[in-house]
Amino acid sequence: MMSKVLFQKKQTIDYKLMMNVKKIACIGAGYVGGPTMSVIAQKNPGIIVTVVDLNQARIDAWNDSDLNNLPIYEPGLADVIEEARGRNLFFSTDVEKAIDEADMIFISVNTPTKTYGKGKGQAADLKFIELCARQIASVAQSDKIIVEKSTLPVRTADALKSILDNTGNGVNFHILSNPEFLAEGTAIPDLQSPDRVLIGGENRDAIEALVGIYEAWVPRERILTTNLWSSELSKLVANAFLAQRVSSINAISELCEVTGANVDEVARAVGTDSRIGPKFLKSSVGFGGSCFQKDILNLVYIARSYNLHAVANYWEQVILLNDHQKSRFAEKIIRDMYNTVNGKRIVFLGWAFKKDTNDTRESAAIYVADHLLSEEANIIIYDPKVTAEQIYRDLDYLGTRSSEENKRLVQVVEDPYEACKDAHAIAVLTEWDEFRTYDWKLIKEQMKRPSFVFDGRSVLDSSLMESLNFTYYKIGSDVNQK
Ligand code: NAD
Ligand code: UGA
Repeated sequence: MMSKVLFQKKQTIDYKLMMNVKKIACIGAGYVGGPTMSVIAQKNPGIIVTVVDLNQARIDAWNDSDLNNLPIYEPGLADVIEEARGRNLFFSTDVEKAIDEADMIFISVNTPTKTYGKGKGQAADLKFIELCARQIASVAQSDKIIVEKSTLPVRTADALKSILDNTGNGVNFHILSNPEFLAEGTAIPDLQSPDRVLIGGENRDAIEALVGIYEAWVPRERILTTNLWSSELSKLVANAFLAQRVSSINAISELCEVTGANVDEVARAVGTDSRIGPKFLKSSVGFGGSCFQKDILNLVYIARSYNLHAVANYWEQVILLNDHQKSRFAEKIIRDMYNTVNGKRIVFLGWAFKKDTNDTRESAAIYVADHLLSEEANIIIYDPKVTAEQIYRDLDYLGTRSSEENKRLVQVVEDPYEACKDAHAIAVLTEWDEFRTYDWKLIKEQMKRPSFVFDGRSVLDSSLMESLNFTYYKIGSDVNQK
């Protein structure tokens, strides 16, 4: 009886607070802002959600009537957009109007690694966050809840609060931390059924207002509430732990190759221990993506800034091992191909940092390509979702050689069979499912001999590859060792 009364009371409070949030704005219409707000709008048809961005082309793409032209590729996203867009989900470049009208503002702008000044190469660049805070402060004429959706260094909320309170128009701002845990390629299922939602804050009403929004579809027990600093830090730590598992198994992959063990078998044997678990133990050519490296570097920087050098060194090793994995894959290709790839046709299957996304940020493929291009290889690239412009942009961004030189050495094609014709070697850089289904017999017939395949993702069937007489190397189990 007692618990029923409490339950009813809580329901009333949640409902009241929920009703207070009628309009949400989200600054930043990227890989996080776009999908996250789409799902919030889908699940809360009574709340108007406006996603704003300075990038006109990106907003135009979000508004495109042809859902194939959305700015990011995510399975299931188009259906959510179709349901909510125009009903209670809007995309716009009018940042000030959205801020002015909103009760709650999510900040979901990019927080890249600093490329200049103090902390260059490690600390998070918070200039976009600060610009948002200043703009909110100057526009806001009513109290607002500000939600940190971007991944931020621990204690950023302090700086945000200071800017908002010192430059604002005397209205109240309540800051919450609500980091996002979606992974690209599975963003929609991750958002629709999250393991947990994390909300950090100081003001109980503000926290409950945000809880109310998620409660529209997330069971209450999966919504964790903490203090601000625990929430901010937990996001960095979650990414560090995930990346650490990948680096751990990749370290073992090298040991497997010299001892005759098979890394997939080792991962299975280790991961079936329920205390360890099977996920994130897939050996690869190295983790990529916009966040793992950036967030660990940031964690390392924060630890060093508190003089915690043992802590910093420990986490830095995750990155160093990842760099090693990428370069040892490139070195392996060169070594096996008689120590020279000069003028040789090497096909890259995959450029995205993982399957089911068109995102290439920090993709291992970029660094492996750069290494081989420095040895004057000719690289032919096929990726089902990444455009040629993006690939050249990624290579040019490194600044290792001129743009003309990248164009001379790299060709991007739309047909994987055309790519593989007359190739000396194929390297698998992304684990796209379609690579398994290719006619490998036909590909073998059209390649040069010996026909090398370097499988950086262990996606191909090794017995098939051997039976077709490929010289097949798979990360973590060098079949040629046998
Ligand atoms: P993104 O680069 O795809 O999108 C950020 C957007 O913010 C850009 O479109 C940019 O034009 C816009 N922007 C920047 N400053 C602005 C301003 N002042 N006003 C309006 N728009 C502005 O970045 P993302 O991948 O969506 O990441 C955003 C944040 O979320 C980062 O902190 C990242 O670490 C974090 N995060 C990303 C992922 C992911 O899978 N990509 C997952 C979890 C968390
Ligand atoms: C990761 C986290 O999984 C998300 O929880 C987090 O929200 C996000 O970073 C972020 O903060 O940006 P994401 O980078 O999109 O998500 O993708 P992951 O599935 O984590 O893969 C990251 C990289 O690790 C990819 O290159 C992937 O191929 C690689 N990986 C992953 C492996 O090599 N082996 C594995 O077993 C798992």
